[in-house]
Amino acid sequence: MTQRNNQQIRDLVREDRVHRDLYVNPDVFDLEMDRIWSRAWIFVGHDSQVPNAGDFYATEIGREPVIMVRQTNGDVRVLHNRCAHKGAKLTGRPQGNCKGFRCPYHGWTYKLDGRLAGVPARKGYDNTPFDMKDPRFSLAPVAQADSYRGFVFATLDPNAPPLPEFLDDAAATLDNIADRAPEGEVEVAGPPLRYLHNCNWKMFVENLNDAMHPMVAHASVGNAARRYVAEQPEGTEYPPEAEIIFPFGSSYEFFDKMQVTALPHGHAYMGGELSIHSDYSAVPGYWDAMVKSYGEERTKKILSQNRHNTIFYPSFTAKDAIQAVRVCRPIAVDKTMIESWHFRLKGAPEQMLKRTILYSRLINSNASMVGPDDWDCYTRIQEGLVSDAKVWVDTSRGLGREEAVGDGRRKSFGTSDLSYRNQIQAWLEYMTDEVAA
Ligand code: FES
Ligand SMILES: [Fe+2]
Repeated sequence: MTQRNNQQIRDLVREDRVHRDLYVNPDVFDLEMDRIWSRAWIFVGHDSQVPNAGDFYATEIGREPVIMVRQTNGDVRVLHNRCAHKGAKLTGRPQGNCKGFRCPYHGWTYKLDGRLAGVPARKGYDNTPFDMKDPRFSLAPVAQADSYRGFVFATLDPNAPPLPEFLDDAAATLDNIADRAPEGEVEVAGPPLRYLHNCNWKMFVENLNDAMHPMVAHASVGNAARRYVAEQPEGTEYPPEAEIIFPFGSSYEFFDKMQVTALPHGHAYMGGELSIHSDYSAVPGYWDAMVKSYGEERTKKILSQNRHNTIFYPSFTAKDAIQAVRVCRPIAVDKTMIESWHFRLKGAPEQMLKRTILYSRLINSNASMVGPDDWDCYTRIQEGLVSDAKVWVDTSRGLGREEAVGDGRRKSFGTSDLSYRNQIQAWLEYMTDEVAA
């Protein structure tokens, strides 16, 4: 596949279907790592994870191990997690604090900004090309790193467009998450929850705006919640659990009305002002704290934005109304780690965070009542695509019925496959060297 030319890659995609190789072929996966995950802006972490100088967080951009580290001047840098000597990963720990990095193999040490600080028994390098000041002997910074409202992204491509241009209107989702905090900032609440999926990474990202599956794949939990509530004596208040689970049994018409908006670079979101998260009850004290910070009119405007899932193709997805994000970390063609992250709204009552965590526990975690339904479907797709009976995957729902709404954005009814097709279009652009400038 690595030898496949652009035409052969284009042959895997039709306007109404895609070839199964996108999901099952390990060579396609390798090429994706080179051409998509090395070029797009990938979510690294949130700057609140590294509040103090020397705090670091280690993760991957595609297959590339990286470290996000807070500098003494307050900046956040993203460095390759690879010793300049013989290549050992500098830290195997996911996070911590240090004055500098010391390689566990031969003890080369580095400053927080990646510059080489020391080498044991240095005399052995006398009269060799070794030079402490040569960047060749320092930790390499990633090609570009930037943050938006505290969300740190990085790309391995020096020619990638600037982060705000890449984010496009998906940035409004990050703005809304931060604006929902009376202090205008969020902070990470604990480490992410990790859930290993036996499927190709695209199945997860494509599913997020697939509004044709909840009423089928999640029917049992929706029905059970309804039955439980029906059995309660009249006048019983809905528990917050029911409020969260109910919408997953919403009708096709409800999701159609919610609408899907496709953005450049493969990004998309459902909802806007109407989403399955619109009806959450108010948390006591939250409204007042918001009005104190923003005034009533602006508070109403902030709280009226409800995007169900915003996809920042390929790595990051966010729900603004509940401050929960999920991050996709591909491991192999049929293995993907999904991380669920939770954010505390600074200045808001603690109950807001409890709601976010409750949501994750009920919907996203591996012990939840909803996420495992999706997990099962992805696993079945991965297994079903092995069949030689057919090689194509359908993406035709709503084809040709989308409406251009300016600036490269398109809108359609919520159960359309528009978000799928939009992602595949971005996939093709990255994979064929035709990245839109
Ligand atoms: S590999 Fe890091 S010091 Fe040798
Ligand atoms: Fe689902």
